[in-house]
Formats: sequence, C-alpha cells, structure tokens
Amino acid sequence: MVRVLRALTSLTTDTIMDNLAVKTDSDTLLFYCNGTKVLDPDVDPALTLLTYLRTKLRLTGSKLGCGEGGCGACTVMVSKYSSKDKTISHIAVNACLTPICSVHGMAVTTVEGIGSTTTRLHPVQERLAKAHGSQCGFCTPGIVMSMYTLLRNILQPTMEEIESAFEGNLCRCTGYRPILQGYKTFTKDGCCGGTNTTCCKNIPNGISVQEEGVLTTLFDASKFMPFDPSQEPIFPPELMINLYEMDSRPRTFVGVRVAWFRPVTLQQLLELKATNPKAKIVAGNSEVGVEVKFKNQHYPVLVDPTHIPELTSVERTPSGVRIGAAVSLTSVSDHLKEIIQKEPEHKTRVFAAIVEMLRWFAGHQIRNVATIGGNIATSSPISDLNPLFMAAVCTIELVSKSGKRTVSMDGNFFTGYRKNVIKTDEIILAINVPFTCENEYFYGYKQSPRREDDIAIVNAGMRVVLKPGTNEVQDCSLSYGGMAPTTVLATKTMKNITGRCWSDGLVEAMASFLLEDLPLSPGAPGGMEPYRQSLTLSFFFKFYLAVLEQLRLEQPGIISGSAVPPSYKSANQPYHKNSARGVQLYQVPSGQPDSDAVGRPLTHQSAFKQATGEAIYVDDMPPIKGELYLALVMSRKAHANILSVDTTVALALNGVHAYVNADDVPGNNLLGSSPVYDDVLYADKTVNCVGQVIGVIVADNQAIAQRAAKLVRVEYEELPAVFTIEDAIEQNSFFPVSRCIQTGDLDQGFETSDHIIEGEVRSGAQEHFYLETWTTLVIPGEGGEVEVISANQSPSRTQSLVAEALGIASHKVVSRVKRLGGGFGGKEARACLHAAVCAVAVNKVKRPVRLMLDRNEDMMISGTRHPFLARYKVGVTSYGQLRALEVDLYSNAGSTYDCSPSVLERSMQNVDNCYKCPNVKVTGHMCRTNLASNTGFRGFGSPQAMLVAETIMSEIALKCGLTQIKVRDVNFYKDGDETFYGQELKHWNLDKCWDQCLVQSDYNNRRLDVDEYNRKNRWRKRGLAITPTKFGISFTVKYYNQAGALVHIYNDGSVLVSHGGTEMGQGLHTKMIQVASRTLRIPQEKIHINETNTSQVPNTSSTAASFSSDLNGMAIKEACETLLHRLEPFIQDNPKGTWESWVDAAYKDRISLSSTGFGRARDLYFDWEKGKGDPYAYFVYGVAVSEVEIDCLTGDHQVLRTDIVMDVGDSLNPAIDMGQIEGGFIQGYGLFVLEDYRVSPSGQLLTTGPGFYKIPSFGDIPAEFNVSLLTRAPNPLAICSSKAVGEPPLFLAASIFFAIKDAIQSAREDAGIPRAFRLDSPATAERIRMACQDQFTKQISTPEEGTYKPFFLRP
Ligand SMILES: Cc1cc2nc3c(=O)[nH]c(=O)nc-3n(C[C@H](O)[C@H](O)[C@H](O)COP(=O)(O)OP(=O)(O)OC[C@H]3O[C@@H](n4cnc5c(N)ncnc54)[C@H](O)[C@@H]3O)c2cc1C
Ligand code: FES
Ligand code: FES
Repeated sequence: MVRVLRALTSLTTDTIMDNLAVKTDSDTLLFYCNGTKVLDPDVDPALTLLTYLRTKLRLTGSKLGCGEGGCGACTVMVSKYSSKDKTISHIAVNACLTPICSVHGMAVTTVEGIGSTTTRLHPVQERLAKAHGSQCGFCTPGIVMSMYTLLRNILQPTMEEIESAFEGNLCRCTGYRPILQGYKTFTKDGCCGGTNTTCCKNIPNGISVQEEGVLTTLFDASKFMPFDPSQEPIFPPELMINLYEMDSRPRTFVGVRVAWFRPVTLQQLLELKATNPKAKIVAGNSEVGVEVKFKNQHYPVLVDPTHIPELTSVERTPSGVRIGAAVSLTSVSDHLKEIIQKEPEHKTRVFAAIVEMLRWFAGHQIRNVATIGGNIATSSPISDLNPLFMAAVCTIELVSKSGKRTVSMDGNFFTGYRKNVIKTDEIILAINVPFTCENEYFYGYKQSPRREDDIAIVNAGMRVVLKPGTNEVQDCSLSYGGMAPTTVLATKTMKNITGRCWSDGLVEAMASFLLEDLPLSPGAPGGMEPYRQSLTLSFFFKFYLAVLEQLRLEQPGIISGSAVPPSYKSANQPYHKNSARGVQLYQVPSGQPDSDAVGRPLTHQSAFKQATGEAIYVDDMPPIKGELYLALVMSRKAHANILSVDTTVALALNGVHAYVNADDVPGNNLLGSSPVYDDVLYADKTVNCVGQVIGVIVADNQAIAQRAAKLVRVEYEELPAVFTIEDAIEQNSFFPVSRCIQTGDLDQGFETSDHIIEGEVRSGAQEHFYLETWTTLVIPGEGGEVEVISANQSPSRTQSLVAEALGIASHKVVSRVKRLGGGFGGKEARACLHAAVCAVAVNKVKRPVRLMLDRNEDMMISGTRHPFLARYKVGVTSYGQLRALEVDLYSNAGSTYDCSPSVLERSMQNVDNCYKCPNVKVTGHMCRTNLASNTGFRGFGSPQAMLVAETIMSEIALKCGLTQIKVRDVNFYKDGDETFYGQELKHWNLDKCWDQCLVQSDYNNRRLDVDEYNRKNRWRKRGLAITPTKFGISFTVKYYNQAGALVHIYNDGSVLVSHGGTEMGQGLHTKMIQVASRTLRIPQEKIHINETNTSQVPNTSSTAASFSSDLNGMAIKEACETLLHRLEPFIQDNPKGTWESWVDAAYKDRISLSSTGFGRARDLYFDWEKGKGDPYAYFVYGVAVSEVEIDCLTGDHQVLRTDIVMDVGDSLNPAIDMGQIEGGFIQGYGLFVLEDYRVSPSGQLLTTGPGFYKIPSFGDIPAEFNVSLLTRAPNPLAICSSKAVGEPPLFLAASIFFAIKDAIQSAREDAGIPRAFRLDSPATAERIRMACQDQFTKQISTPEEGTYKPFFLRP
C-alpha cells in the first residue's frame, strides 16, 4: 500500500491515476451479495455500491431515486461480523452513497436476495404488496429493505420502531398509511388488517361501521405467510473465518481515477496522511459522496478510517465519554443511551441532548454510516452536533504523524465557512463529551422545514450552570447553528447573563444581546432572516422555561415567584406522536359473480414484481449492444444570448463520441404542445431559462458523458430576466393569452353587498418529485425506424415529437411505455420533448442511446406545478352569502406555453369550488418568466384556484362572525344548480359527503375541545378546519377525450389487453383488467396487460386529467363486448362449456379473436367568447376535516387527525381508490404546507434534490387518518358506475392549511392582533411562526422588500 502511495505522491493527481495501472498493488475486492461471493480484481473505487449492483452485477432491484441519500430507494442491507464482539450486525445503508470498496469483507443483501415471485416472496415483500403499499413501485425495494433490516435486528418490533426505520425512505404515491398498516402485522400486537372482530380496525376510534356491506379491511392478514426468522440466509461463514485476515491487513484498491486505501492501524493511517496530506479521509461518505456527485469534486486518493480500533471505540472516562471519530451516529446514540441508563440523570444531560438531536438527524441509512468525526470535520454551519459540542465545551483529539494535540471546541474551533483548526496532515481521533454536574442544565434545539430527515434552519446547544443552591447564573454557553458561516457562540449574551438570576425578565433582558450576537443582514445566505432571528429568541425562551421547570421540580425553593404559568407549560413539551392509526371504510359489491373483479380491492397488478425488484423500469433494461450514454449540456443562465460553444476539451476526452446540437436536428427544432409550438429542442441562439438544453454529449458511459458535458464551455451575453409573478406583472411580461369568464352583474352585486373584502393569496410551485427521474432509451432500426422506450405519460405525443424532430412520418416511430416510477403530470408533456432530444442524438451516432436524468437535472428542467397569485374582491351579505366575486388569477407559466393555457382555464373554472355566486368575473393571466416551463401537475390548476375560494370563505366567516361551517353551508350549490359558467350540477353528492364527514370526524365536539385547548395554552395552539371539493372530470381540450383499445384472445383462452393509458402507479392497468373481467365474464387471472405501445393502440391521449379509467375503460369495454358478441354463438352451442372451449371453438371456426374498441366522452365544450359551457363529464366530490397543533414559537406543526369522505361512485377497486385518495391527500399536504420551491435571484434552482426540497415523509402523515368512500352513490355517467379519483382528493389537504390558519388565528388573538391575516401557501414553518406575532417577533425588524437583494425568490 505504501509503495502505491509513494507512486501517487510523486505525480500530480490526474496523471497519477492514468499511470496507476500498477494492478499488482491493487487488492481484489471481496464481498458477498445475496449469498454469492463477488471477487473483483479490477474494481473501480470511484463506483458506488448502487452503480456496482445495477451495472456490474445486473441487480436492478435497488433503484436510483436521488443519488444523495435522501430518498431511500437504493436501500440495501450490509452485514458485518465483528471479531471483537463476535457478533454480526445488519445495517440499512443507502447504496447510492456507499463506496463499493467500503463493503470489502461484508455481505450485501438486496431486494432480490430475500425473495422472488418465481420462488417465494419474503413476508416483508408479500405484506407490503398485499396491503396495497406499492403503487408505482419505485420506492418499494428500498422500503422493503429498510423493513427487512429492521426485522433482522428486532424480530418483533414496535410500531414506533417500524416508523423510525422509514425515516430515510420517501414514497410519493401511497401516502404511507398502507405501508405502515401492512407492516403493523409484524408487531407484537400486530393488526390483522381487520380479520378478527377484535381488531383495531373494527373498533375504529369513534367511527361506527353500522352500514351493511361496509368493510374496513382492504387485505386479509390471516392469509399472510408467517414470518419465520429461522429461514433467513446465514452470514457467509467465509467472512467470519477469514475475518482476522480481512481486518488485520491493510487494503488498497486502485482504479483509473481513484485509489482507495483501507489502513487497519492508526500508524498506517498517519503514514498515509503524512505522505499525501491531500488524501481524503472518507468515513460514512455522506458528505464526500454528495460533493463528488453534485459539487464537481474529485478526490483521487480516498482513505477509509473505519477499521482502525482507536477511531472506532467508545469509552466511558472519569469525566465523560470519549467517542472515536469514526464511530457511526447510530452507534454513538446506542452507547450514550446505555450510559444514560447507568448514570444519574444530572450527569448525562449533554448525552440526552445528543441522543434527542440524533433522532432528528437524517434517517437510519445515513446515521448507520455517517460518523461523528465526519460531522465535526465538515464544519457545516448547520451541523446538528457542533452546536451541542460547542455548548458542552467538548474537546477534540487531533493526531498526525508528528504528534497528538487536544483542542477545545470553543469559539476558535471554526475558522470560516466549512473551515476549522484541523491541519491538513491531522485527523480527528476522538471527541470527549463531558458529564454535567447537578446544577448544570443542557438542552439542544433544532428547527428544520420538515421534522424528520431534514437539515436545520437554525439549531442550538444551550448550557447553564447555576451557583449551587441559587438561581444565579455562574456560567453559560449558548451556541447556534444556521446564523453565520460557522457554528457560533452568543458571546455577549453569555457574558451578560453571568451573575443574573434565572427568573422573570431574564429572556427580555437577554433578547437584545442575542440579536446583537446573531445578526443577519438582509439577503444573508439562507434567507428567512427575520424568521431565523426569531428562532434564536424562541429557543432561548424555551431553554429558559425548561430550566425553570426543572428547577421547580428539583429545587422549588430557589425560583419562588418565577413559576412557569400553566398556559406556558406546553411551550416546551417535547414532540410526541402516537403511532399512526386510522380506518378505511368502503362498500363491497353484492350479488355479482365471483369471476367479476369489478369493485373488489384487488392488489395492484405489478405489486409483487415491484416488491421483489423484478419490475422493469426503463433504466433497468439491460444495455443494448453498442449502446451509448447521453449527458445534457444545459444553460447556466436564465436569459442570455449564446455567444459561443466550445466543445474541444470535452470531445478530446477518451470515450466521448459526439456533441449534438441544434445543427443536428434533421426535422423541426421548434416543437411544443398543441396548439402553440414554442419549445426549442436544442437552444441555438438564446436561452430562456437555467437548465435549457443547449446540446448533448454522447459517450461510452454515464460517468464519461457527464464529465465531458461539464467541460463544454458556453459563453453567454446575459439579458434581463423575470422570475416571479409580481415581477412579471410589474414588467408586463405575459403570454398573449388572457381569459375571462363573466356572469351576472358585478357592479350590482357589489352594490347590494353588506361587506366587501379584498385580498391576495399566493400558492407556490410544486415539484413533481416522482421517484424515477426522466429516463429514455432510443434504439435505431432499419430504414430510419426508431423505437423509443421511455418513462412518460404520453406515448403518442412522444411518437409525434420524435417524428417531427427527425423529419420522418409517425409510422416509423414506435413509442413504448411499460411503467413509470410516478408521473403526476410531470411526464405528460415535457418528458416527450426530452425523448426527441435523445432521438436526435441517435440519428447522429446511429447507435442506441440512453439517458436517465440525475435528480438535480430533472428538477431543474422538468418544470413544476404553476405558482399562482390571486387578487380577489368579494361582496357578501351580512349573513355571509356571496353576492359578487371578482378574481384575477395570475399563473407563472415559465418560459414556454406547454399546457399552461389549459391549466389556467381549468383554474378559472374551479375558482368557485363548491359555492354559488350570482355575479362573477374571473380573469386569467399567464406570466412569462425565465423559469423552466411549468406544466401539468395532479389537479391541473384546480387546487390553486380552490385555495382562493376557501381563503375567501374563511375571510367571510371572520368578517361576518360566522362559523366556518355556517359560511359554507349558506353558500353551497344545490342539486340542479348551474355553476357560474352554466354547467348543471347533476347528482350533487357534496352535501352527503359534508354531513357524513361532520359526523365521522365528530367535528362539533372537537371544535369545542380545540377552543378549550387554545384557551389553556399560550404557545401551542390547535386548529380545526373542514374543506370541501368539487372536481370536474374531463380534458378541457375536447379532442383529448378519446381512447382506444385492442384486445386479443389467444387460442388458449388467455386475453391480452392493450389500451392507450400508461401505468404510473395509479393502478390503471389493474382497473382495466377488472373492466375486461366484468365484460368478458372471466376471472382477472386470465387477463394480462403488457405495456402501452403506439403500434398497438394509436393516437393515445395523455394519461392525465383523472380520465384514463373512464376513457380507456370504455374502449376496453367496447372491444370486449365485440369479442363476446362473436363468442356468443359458441356459448349458445355449448352453454356448459368453459371459456377455453368457446375460444377454441371460435378459433377453429375462423372467427377473429381480436378487436379494437374506442371510447369517447360525450360532447363537452366551453365557449370562451361567452364564458359558458358544459366542459365536464361529471363532478367528483369530497370533504376533509383536519386538526393540527402548531408551535407558535418555532412554526413547527403536527397533523393530529384527518377524516375524509370521498365520492368515487361505485369504486372500481376500493384499495386502489383508497391509495389514490390517501396518496393525493399527502401530496396535497406537501403542496399546501411543506414543499417550498425556491430559486436564486439569478434563476438557479436552490431546492434541488431531497436534501433541500422536502416532500412529506412517513412521519408527516396524520396521527389518525380515517378515509371513507361514500356509499350508495353510483355514478351513471362513467364506466361501471365509478368515478375518477386521481386528482380530486389532492385539494382536500387544504384542510390542513386552513387548520393551521385557524391555530395561528388563536395565537394572534392572544397577542392582541387581528385574527384576519394573509396566509400564503405553502404554510411553512417560517410563515406559521412569523404570523404568530408576539413580544419576540416584535423585536426583529423586517427589511422592506426591494431595498435589498433577497437570498431566494419564491416564483
Ligand atoms: C441525506 C443526508 C442527510 C443529512 N442530514 C444531516 C443532518 O440532519 N444533520 C447534520 O448535521 N448533517 C446531516 N448530513 C450531513 C452528514 O451526514 C454529516 O455531516 C455526517 O456526520 C458526515 O459524516 P461522514 O462520516 O459521512 O463524513 P464523510 O462524508 O465520510 O466525511 C466528511 C468530511 O469529514 C472528513 N473526515 C471524516 N472523518 C474524519 C476524521 N476522522 N478526521 C478528519 N477528517 C475527517 C472527510 O475528509 C470529509 O471532509 C446529512 C447528509 C445526508 C447525505
Ligand atoms: S437513491 Fe440513494 S437515497 Fe435516493
Ligand atoms: S409507490 Fe412509492 S414512490 Fe411510487
């Protein structure tokens, strides 16, 4: 090893690796994967375990969702044997951040290793699938592996442990509830899914299930395979027997660009560092891995310290605990918990704060590998541990070849942004965390946008020592993160607090010092300056209360007169959440034959394949011979002329084949969405947003292509750019599309109103965040034929765009879609353009090409849900009835049209939500900005508009002194009413949903409870809200309302159905099989759907608008009816025959057993000249009640309970519909509360990846979540009396938004300020906190907008 290193040091790093083909010095990598030994003498240390599994071992079950440890899709189990303890440990890790060489000598288990559909499913796979916990399935293997690892460690976990195990896993589809429900069956008092009468599901909380035919069970847990842990694979004996050899010898793995060293003694490590100070220590790789992948860093020499005893041990010392720098955070927590158990409480207060902080530090996969030394050395200003270490005055042991020194983690430790006093040849050996003494108190605080697995906005460590027997401060340290380029001490406050009494007036006295200590100038990095400053005061106030409370319990005498008022007690209440619970109510079909699958909660057609990793997504397809890889060259400017593009260096790189740009487009470079074509495939003269494609590099593999793309130099001439709606209005930057719907006499309406309310409300952008990013594989065929295999919702649009780009006829292009790892509208239009970009490259190089976007690229270029600004004026009578409504809706369309006009139109038609108003004028405007073009997203403009309606309702209630129920009651439409644009509302089921939801949620009693709680609590408030929705079903573009199908019956009786819809997790194929089952009168097992393919079904409409089941269902029904009709004579001839016998007879009689079918909606229309029409086939209704609790001091919140009643007609499949309702609701919760999309003032996306963009996680779901499908509500207007369900439930999550608003109003009332205020969506922690004004926020000045350059913009 040392010989290789010497070779390294004598050369510059890049040439080193080129010269380092000294393969004799490289060890052979050895590990086990799924019980099979892997030996690799040529391992490339630059690879992650995930890339190795997927490309070298061709195990594609583990998915790439983000590449930064934030989604958990790549979770695998790593097992290792410890020769010291003689134990085997199993940990879940993110394979995307695990360097391949770090698993040397270990056993890796992937989703393929635990079960399969061809042998035996593992219970973890079976239960997830059968409990309907897999929709698109892209997250599923990771979730399976997190659960599997948990079970390998704890045979019968508690529900709390299960929920915790998923802290590092995200799912964008399911809403998490079914996953937890399925896995609850592994707990000791596990739920049987309602099989037994005593099951929790049959005794739901206050919800009576009296109606006949109504069930609460979506799966039968009694049929689950038992979990028998003795059947699990054993740890490979070879790894135990040879462990001494493994552990005692240093290892070296040398690749072309990177070398990996694993020393096993401290001496070897120091030697390495001495000979090459630039060698990068890599422990958990959770920082280094992200730097390499996303921050363009290259570390040619990596040194793994995790096998060095001095760095991996934890010792209790007389003064505290000494933790080796390479100890993982999980292990730190476990050790500290052990010590806490053994020592008196007062000694372990720092340890308790660390343990509590680690609970909110990343997810298990990260904590299992990330080290304490890595956190300190990174010196991030938002490190969660450094404020605690600093406040606790910990010491750090540093060591180099020239000796050891101990430094204090005081105000001098950090020397600048991500800099510290550690010298380049030094490493951190250990950290010493001291015990506390009896009169010493210690707490840690953290506020992040999302509670679980999120980085801090501000965090703090606080310590005070009181003079024994008094409340006088003897010593104090207050350390804050997130307030400066480094973790800092609030030195002035610390100085001034010394000698003061811990009693009334302390917080007020210290507030001005804290604000001086922790200033933030307007526009400071991170933004949210007033909020962050308010948090510094809030944390101190909480600390004050916590210590006071502790003193009250321990030494009541010394704080006389300073007791915490009872209404303040909850301010400090630690976060606690009961395990999620809930009930799902639905009706079962009665009186239909067993073979008829309609209405039954069938498992998603692909669920088992998804749970075993066998389901094939585009990037899972094996490489095609000669296949090349693409990387995009994207604009770095928001608006600019391209002056030059220099590809010389990029093209000179080994393995690069070509650079493709606008000159290579043989057909049309100007494409787009009908009716406007303004999307440029390859930008040639001007760029209109950051991320716009300028060219692509074609190379041998992804790594080379991406490296080369970064070497393409583009020179720009910058032009003025617009990003926000407000700026677009000011600069008159609009698309020339303006729409207006007007009815009644607005002036007269306002004149006859008792109150007029005017206001504004905004809703932010939302990133689709499907787990599978845009992926395309394009294969050239003979004579100009092209095959496109891609993850998109619009195969026909892909086909026509590819044809247009290539200048060929559509019949030469076959567009195929097997399944998508989620779509939500984000793969409806823009992903098709992306396929055309790839096709142009294929045309140039004449070889197959593949492109899977990295998460940051996908987020940068794919567009979002349209942000909206509404300006409204509403006139009402004194009893709250709407008289006149005038709304201007502004959408931020981004840089091209895309489907923005349709989004705007739908939003305008939905601005009434469920309320009748005689005089209405709605005007819509499309802002043109320099952002990636915004596009369709579940709800398609409706949720943004309905938010306006509900905001208006809540304002009216306040103005007129009405309850939130009453104001809605008086304004609801009634059956047979016309909407403001003239569509008759038939089968108005909203009132049924409303009444049922009020009862189910026990709304009236809970309203009283919430008010009572709020009277008793000053700093925590609860809020309750009820929100209805009415959602029109159809495409607003008339000709999209059609679908085709092709049904083949093979002569063995099996049936293959093809239709125009794509399967993206929503269960469309499953439902379509159910429709075919009913129509053909055969069990669903005989029917199969393979893929969506434009050569089978042409001219498909996008799978969107929630309309795909209806349209494709109609087409399939027609095709099946035709076939059944043809079979009828054979059935008549042989009534006792079987399906197979009739098919066989028909075949032998030369009857065609193949038929097309076609479906279209009735003639829907909208006349924009008149503002009148009949645009929707029917409406879907739903109502939700949500209750929340907020922390007024930090803006944190928790959803305590949600009840939903949803009208889905006669459900085609209650399990799938329930999944759509819950999944849509949780996605809506992201929209209205959590997901905060931000760009820099120069248009760069700041919220890239799961690290910065927070979708709801497992821990965010309502603690109680009850969903009922409205019973006895068949819909005569759609297939099998069902209703569409994909989009309508999403808006119901606004009930959480309004419950938060309700809670804030109570806080405002306590503060003596008006209840009425503007709350924009999303209701982030920042917005919640800043709306709850109080004595702390009053001390913070908010700079006037326009007087400084903000750190970020919300477009
Ligand atoms: C998804 C995700 C979530 C995260 N969440 C959080 C969070 O909630 N809070 C938080 O604070 N951080 C968070 N982080 C950041 C990161 O996980 C932590 O900083 C972690 O402790 C780093 O440890 P590591 O062992 O993985 O470091 P590595 O990536 O291995 O190394 C990080 C740096 O430390 C240096 N280093 C490592 N060990 C030593 C040593 N012994 N001596 C000298 N230098 C050393 C390395 O050279 C490198 O510069 C998160 C990261 C990810 C990817
Ligand atoms: S792909 Fe590894 S965590 Fe997202
Ligand atoms: S099923 Fe979880 S992301 Fe789609």
